[in-house]
Amino acid sequence: MNIVQSHAEADAFFCFVELLSGFRDFYCQQLDNSVVGIWSAITRLSQLVRKHDEELWRHLEITHQSKISVNPQFYAFRWITLLLTQEFSFFDSLHIWDALLSDPEGPLESLLGICCAMLVLVRKRLIAGDFTSNMKLLQHYPTTNISHLLFSCI
Ligand SMILES: *[C@@H]1O[C@H](CO)[C@@H](O)[C@H](O)[C@H]1NC(C)=O
Repeated sequence: MNIVQSHAEADAFFCFVELLSGFRDFYCQQLDNSVVGIWSAITRLSQLVRKHDEELWRHLEITHQSKISVNPQFYAFRWITLLLTQEFSFFDSLHIWDALLSDPEGPLESLLGICCAMLVLVRKRLIAGDFTSNMKLLQHYPTTNISHLLFSCI
Protein backbone atom coordinates (compact mmCIF):
# COMPACT_ATOMS: atom_id res chain seq x y z
CA MET A 1 0.00 0.00 0.00
CA ASN A 2 1.32 3.44 -0.81
CA ILE A 3 0.97 6.40 1.50
CA VAL A 4 -2.18 7.73 -0.16
CA GLN A 5 -4.02 4.41 0.06
CA SER A 6 -3.04 3.78 3.66
CA HIS A 7 -4.67 7.07 4.69
CA ALA A 8 -7.68 6.81 2.41
CA GLU A 9 -10.12 5.75 5.12
CA ALA A 10 -9.04 8.47 7.52
CA ASP A 11 -9.08 11.07 4.74
CA ALA A 12 -12.54 10.03 3.61
CA PHE A 13 -13.81 10.21 7.19
CA PHE A 14 -12.26 13.65 7.67
CA CYS A 15 -13.93 14.92 4.49
CA PHE A 16 -17.29 13.46 5.47
CA VAL A 17 -17.19 15.08 8.91
CA GLU A 18 -16.07 18.36 7.38
CA LEU A 19 -18.91 18.30 4.87
CA LEU A 20 -21.65 17.27 7.26
CA SER A 21 -20.59 19.60 10.06
CA GLY A 22 -21.18 22.48 7.63
CA PHE A 23 -24.73 21.29 6.99
CA ARG A 24 -25.64 19.69 10.32
CA ASP A 25 -28.14 22.36 11.28
CA PHE A 26 -30.35 21.63 8.25
CA TYR A 27 -31.26 18.28 9.70
CA CYS A 28 -32.27 19.66 13.08
CA GLN A 29 -35.96 20.45 13.28
CA GLN A 30 -35.56 22.80 16.25
CA LEU A 31 -33.34 24.99 14.09
CA ASP A 32 -35.61 25.01 11.01
CA ASN A 33 -36.61 28.63 11.43
CA SER A 34 -33.35 29.90 12.88
CA VAL A 35 -30.62 31.70 10.93
CA VAL A 36 -28.68 28.46 10.58
CA GLY A 37 -31.66 26.30 9.57
CA ILE A 38 -32.84 25.05 6.22
CA TRP A 39 -35.37 27.86 5.55
CA SER A 40 -32.71 30.44 6.04
CA ALA A 41 -30.48 28.66 3.50
CA ILE A 42 -33.33 28.57 0.98
CA THR A 43 -33.98 32.27 1.55
CA ARG A 44 -30.28 32.98 0.98
CA LEU A 45 -30.40 31.07 -2.29
CA SER A 46 -33.36 33.15 -3.38
CA GLN A 47 -31.49 36.36 -2.49
CA LEU A 48 -28.44 35.15 -4.42
CA VAL A 49 -30.54 34.53 -7.53
CA ARG A 50 -32.13 37.96 -7.15
CA LYS A 51 -28.72 39.58 -6.89
CA HIS A 52 -27.28 37.83 -9.96
CA ASP A 53 -30.32 37.58 -12.19
CA GLU A 54 -33.18 39.79 -11.11
CA GLU A 55 -35.23 39.04 -14.23
CA LEU A 56 -35.09 35.30 -13.58
CA TRP A 57 -35.85 35.77 -9.89
CA ARG A 58 -38.88 37.91 -10.71
CA HIS A 59 -40.14 35.41 -13.22
CA LEU A 60 -39.89 32.56 -10.74
CA GLU A 61 -40.94 34.14 -7.49
CA ILE A 62 -43.25 37.06 -8.12
CA THR A 63 -46.92 36.20 -8.35
CA HIS A 64 -49.06 38.40 -10.55
CA GLN A 65 -52.52 37.89 -12.03
CA SER A 66 -53.07 34.19 -12.66
CA LYS A 67 -49.40 33.24 -12.58
CA ILE A 68 -48.35 30.96 -9.71
CA SER A 69 -44.87 31.56 -8.36
CA VAL A 70 -42.30 28.79 -8.15
CA ASN A 71 -41.52 28.85 -4.44
CA PRO A 72 -37.84 27.87 -4.06
CA GLN A 73 -38.72 25.37 -1.34
CA PHE A 74 -40.37 23.20 -4.03
CA TYR A 75 -36.97 22.33 -5.52
CA ALA A 76 -34.23 23.81 -3.30
CA PHE A 77 -35.22 21.86 -0.20
CA ARG A 78 -34.09 18.64 -1.88
CA TRP A 79 -31.10 20.24 -3.61
CA ILE A 80 -29.76 21.55 -0.29
CA THR A 81 -30.64 18.79 2.17
CA LEU A 82 -29.34 16.02 -0.11
CA LEU A 83 -26.34 18.06 -1.30
CA LEU A 84 -27.38 17.65 -4.95
CA THR A 85 -26.91 13.87 -4.91
CA GLN A 86 -30.39 13.27 -6.36
CA GLU A 87 -29.96 15.70 -9.25
CA PHE A 88 -26.82 14.25 -10.80
CA SER A 89 -25.11 10.91 -11.35
CA PHE A 90 -22.91 9.44 -8.64
CA PHE A 91 -19.78 10.40 -10.55
CA ASP A 92 -20.97 13.98 -11.07
CA SER A 93 -21.94 14.22 -7.38
CA LEU A 94 -18.38 13.31 -6.42
CA HIS A 95 -17.18 16.14 -8.60
CA ILE A 96 -19.59 18.52 -6.87
CA TRP A 97 -18.62 17.31 -3.39
CA ASP A 98 -14.97 17.91 -4.27
CA ALA A 99 -15.90 21.47 -5.12
CA LEU A 100 -17.83 21.86 -1.83
CA LEU A 101 -14.84 20.62 0.17
CA SER A 102 -12.25 22.70 -1.59
CA ASP A 103 -14.06 26.04 -1.58
CA PRO A 104 -12.33 28.46 0.81
CA GLU A 105 -15.73 30.14 1.39
CA GLY A 106 -16.93 26.90 2.98
CA PRO A 107 -19.28 24.14 1.82
CA LEU A 108 -22.55 26.04 2.34
CA GLU A 109 -21.52 29.11 0.36
CA SER A 110 -20.23 26.80 -2.32
CA LEU A 111 -23.47 24.78 -2.44
CA LEU A 112 -25.63 27.90 -2.68
CA GLY A 113 -23.42 29.21 -5.48
CA ILE A 114 -23.81 25.95 -7.41
CA CYS A 115 -27.60 25.95 -6.92
CA CYS A 116 -27.73 29.53 -8.18
CA ALA A 117 -25.63 28.61 -11.23
CA MET A 118 -27.97 25.67 -11.92
CA LEU A 119 -30.90 28.08 -12.15
CA VAL A 120 -29.02 30.60 -14.28
CA LEU A 121 -27.85 27.86 -16.68
CA VAL A 122 -31.46 27.01 -17.55
CA ARG A 123 -32.74 30.61 -17.35
CA LYS A 124 -33.91 30.70 -20.98
CA ARG A 125 -36.15 27.70 -20.47
CA LEU A 126 -37.34 28.97 -17.08
CA ILE A 127 -38.27 32.39 -18.43
CA ALA A 128 -40.12 30.83 -21.35
CA GLY A 129 -41.82 28.29 -19.07
CA ASP A 130 -44.95 28.32 -16.95
CA PHE A 131 -45.37 26.96 -13.41
CA THR A 132 -45.85 23.34 -14.48
CA SER A 133 -42.97 23.15 -16.94
CA ASN A 134 -40.64 25.00 -14.57
CA MET A 135 -41.46 22.70 -11.68
CA LYS A 136 -40.82 19.71 -13.93
CA LEU A 137 -37.52 21.17 -15.13
CA LEU A 138 -36.26 21.95 -11.63
CA GLN A 139 -37.39 18.68 -10.09
CA HIS A 140 -35.74 16.71 -12.91
CA TYR A 141 -32.72 18.83 -13.63
CA PRO A 142 -31.35 18.10 -17.13
CA THR A 143 -28.02 16.35 -17.71
CA THR A 144 -25.35 18.99 -17.47
CA ASN A 145 -21.65 19.37 -18.11
CA ILE A 146 -20.57 19.53 -14.45
CA SER A 147 -17.21 21.16 -15.20
CA HIS A 148 -19.09 23.88 -17.01
CA LEU A 149 -21.57 24.22 -14.12
CA LEU A 150 -18.82 24.49 -11.51
CA PHE A 151 -16.93 26.91 -13.70
CA SER A 152 -19.94 29.19 -14.03
CA CYS A 153 -20.54 29.35 -10.26
CA ILE A 154 -20.56 32.73 -8.75
C1 LIG B 1 -17.50 20.74 -20.38
O1 LIG B 1 -17.17 22.03 -19.95
C2 LIG B 1 -15.76 22.28 -19.90
C3 LIG B 1 -15.58 23.65 -19.24
O2 LIG B 1 -16.40 24.65 -19.80
C4 LIG B 1 -15.19 22.18 -21.30
O3 LIG B 1 -13.81 22.40 -21.26
C5 LIG B 1 -15.48 20.77 -21.85
O4 LIG B 1 -15.04 20.69 -23.17
C6 LIG B 1 -16.98 20.48 -21.78
N1 LIG B 1 -17.20 19.08 -22.11
C7 LIG B 1 -18.12 18.70 -23.00
C8 LIG B 1 -18.25 17.22 -23.20
O5 LIG B 1 -18.86 19.48 -23.57
